[in-house]
Amino acid sequence: MEKWVSMPKVELHAHLNGSIRDSTLLELARGLGEKGVIIFADIEHVIQKDDRSLTEVFRLFDLIHIVTTDHKIITRITKEVIEDFAAESVVYLELRTTPKKNESIGMTKHSYLEAVLEGIKAVSTVDVDFRPHDSENFPHRNDTCNGSTRKKIYVRLLLSIDRRGTTEAAMETVNLALEMRDLGVVGIDLSGNPIMGEWTTYLPALKFAREQGLYVTLHCGEVPNPKEIRSMLDFLPQRIGHACCFEEAEWEKLKSSNIPVEICLTSNIRTNTIPSIDVHHFADLYSKKHPLVLCTDDSGVFSTSLSNEYNLAASAFGLGRRDIFKLTKNAVEYIFADDGVKRELKEIFSSAEQKLDL
Ligand code: IMP
Ligand code: ZN
Repeated sequence: MEKWVSMPKVELHAHLNGSIRDSTLLELARGLGEKGVIIFADIEHVIQKDDRSLTEVFRLFDLIHIVTTDHKIITRITKEVIEDFAAESVVYLELRTTPKKNESIGMTKHSYLEAVLEGIKAVSTVDVDFRPHDSENFPHRNDTCNGSTRKKIYVRLLLSIDRRGTTEAAMETVNLALEMRDLGVVGIDLSGNPIMGEWTTYLPALKFAREQGLYVTLHCGEVPNPKEIRSMLDFLPQRIGHACCFEEAEWEKLKSSNIPVEICLTSNIRTNTIPSIDVHHFADLYSKKHPLVLCTDDSGVFSTSLSNEYNLAASAFGLGRRDIFKLTKNAVEYIFADDGVKRELKEIFSSAEQKLDL
C-alpha cells in the first residue's frame, strides 16, 4: 500500500458526511445514546456492517445525518476528512456536501456551510488552499514550518442537490454556491437516493448553475433508467459519477461526448451496483482511453481510502505504478479549479514523477 499512499493523488468524488471516520461516527453515536437521543445498541450493527445494499446505504446516511447535524460536529468532520486525505498524499480534493437546515438547532443552509468553512480553516496538519487564487485575503502560500516546507492540499467545494428536494430547494443551493464562490465553492453535484425524484425537477437549477459559470457533475446511472441517463448526457455536465447501469446506446453517447467519469470501485461493488470487479466498466473505458478518475465516494461508509482504490484498480486491471500515476496526473485536466491551480498541480506531478522514478 505504501507506494499508493506516497503517490500524489487527486480526489474528485468524496461526500463529506460519507467520508466520516468510523471512530468519529461511533463516538458521536455513543454520545447521543448516552444523552438518550438514540438507542446506541439498535444502531451499532448498522454502523459496523461491511456489506450494504444501495437502500441500506441511504438508511445509514439518514442515521449519519442524525448524528452529525450540528455546527460543531460538521466543523470537526470537515477538518478530519481533509486531514485524512492529506495524510495519504491527496494534493487536490473536491469535497461535496448537501447544505442542510435544522430549525430546532438554528441551522440554516448558510450556517451549515459556514461550519464546513470553519472546518477547512481548522486543519492543522497541512496548509489548505481553498480560495480562488486571485483573492487578496489568501495569496499563494509556500509556508515553511520549523524550516521545512509544509505539505499543501487544495480543497474546493461542490454543493450537492439532494434528489429528495424540490426545484426551489435546488435553486436555493445554486444561489448559495454563487454567494460562496469567493470561499472556494466551484460547482454543483446532483446526488441522493437514485430511485427518488425526477431529473427534470433539478434541471432548471442545474441550467442556471451552468449559465452562471458553475461547474456541474451528476450522479448518473446508479440504477437502470435509460431515459434519465440519456437526458443527463445530453445536458453535457463537465463530469458524471458512476455510470454503472448503462446500455449500449448510453455507452455510445458517453464515449462520443468524452465526459469524464468519476469511478468509485469499492462503492459500486459494496452497493451491488456492479456485481463484481472483473465486470466493472472501468476496464472498457480505460482501454478506450475515455477520461476517468478514481475516487472514493464515501470512504467512511465503505471503509476505503483513495490509496486503497488505486491498489484495487492496479490488482484488478493489471495496471502498474506508471499507469496509475498517469491516471491521477491526467485527472488534473478534469478538476473544477482555475488554470493557476492546474498549473501548480502539473508542477507537483512533474516533480513527483522524477522523485518516484517511474
Ligand atoms: P453529505 O452531502 O455531506 O451529507 O454526504 C452524504 C450524502 O451524499 C448522502 O445523504 C447522499 O445524499 C449523498 N451520497 C453519498 N453517496 C452517494 C451515492 O453513492 N449515491 C448518491 N448519493 C450519495
Ligand atoms: Zn457519490
